[in-house]
Amino acid sequence: AVEHTFSIIKPDATKRNLTGSVNAVIEKAGLRIVAQKRVQMTRAQAETFYAIHRERPFFGELVDFMVSGPVVVQVLEGEDAIVRYRDVMGATNPANAAEGTIRKLFALSVGENTVHGSDSRENAAIEIAQFFAGNEIVG
Ligand code: CMP
Repeated sequence: AVEHTFSIIKPDATKRNLTGSVNAVIEKAGLRIVAQKRVQMTRAQAETFYAIHRERPFFGELVDFMVSGPVVVQVLEGEDAIVRYRDVMGATNPANAAEGTIRKLFALSVGENTVHGSDSRENAAIEIAQFFAGNEIVG
C-alpha cells in the first residue's frame, strides 16, 4: 500500500551541507518527498520526539545532538514507504550498514547517523503530526 513515513535529516548532515545528497538517495530509491522543512528543534521537541528512549543511557547525548544544529524534517511517500525507507537508510550503526545506504555513505557514528525514519505505521502518524499540519503535506 502507498504509505507516508517521517524522516529527519540530522544535524551531522545539515552541518556538512549534505541535505541535497541525502535527498538524491531518497529520490533515486523511488520515494517522493511530499513535505519538507528545515527547523531548529527545541530541547522540549527533541525530548518529546525521543520519549520512548528516555530511560536509555544515551538519551541525554541523543537530545544534545538533535538540538546541536538545524534538522530537515520530511514526509516521504511511496509503496511500503516505511520499510523501504528503513532499507534505504541502512543499519542504525553505520559500521553495520549495507553498501549504498544513506548511513553507509554519510553517517559518522551510531549517534551521528545522518537520518531518522519511522519504524511503524503507528509511529509514522505520530511523528508526522509532531511537525506537519495536514495541509503542509502535498502529494
Ligand atoms: P534514530 O533512528 O533516530 O532513533 C534513536 C536514535 O538513538 C538512533 O537513531 C541513534 O542515532 C541513537 N542511538 C542509538 N544507540 C545509540 C548509542 N549507543 N549512542 C548514541 N546514540 C544512539
